[in-house]
Amino acid sequence: MALLAILQYPDSRLYTVASPVITVDDEIRRLIRDMAETMYAAPGVGLAATQVDDHRRVIVIDISETRDHLQVFVNPEIVTSSGTATCEEGCLSVPGIFDKVARAERISVRAFDAQGKTFTLEAEGLLAVCIQHEMDHLEGKVFVDYLSRLKQRRILAKLKKQKRLVM
Ligand code: NI
Repeated sequence: MALLAILQYPDSRLYTVASPVITVDDEIRRLIRDMAETMYAAPGVGLAATQVDDHRRVIVIDISETRDHLQVFVNPEIVTSSGTATCEEGCLSVPGIFDKVARAERISVRAFDAQGKTFTLEAEGLLAVCIQHEMDHLEGKVFVDYLSRLKQRRILAKLKKQKRLVM
């Protein structure tokens, strides 16, 4: 297993649209393991392959308190969605920034698991938010893209300042 480097906003590679996985093979399973290790170490509740500069449609999520319920989605697709819910979001690619984003309240998502088996999952609450947030990454979209220009400028300024501080 290996820890992967997480791209930091506004890295242009975060704007890459990911390609579907053709076969869920050992190489994809290695990517999934490395992504999970990277997410747990960060620590975060979700990670998209885009964020580790691998542009295939893979996301990993663990919203459990105990950090032992890994959920893997390969080639995820939203089948149905309903309602609207606004939740404060953060992102491992945008450290220290949190803001409200409106998304569907309930979704039904179809994907392949790490064994290449297809499954459909009904999700709501934090899990629904997280799945939609990570799926956005696969489309080359970061949550701050939903915010106003003014907020985006403030976030860029704040991130620059943070970078100076760690140097
Ligand atoms: Ni994110």
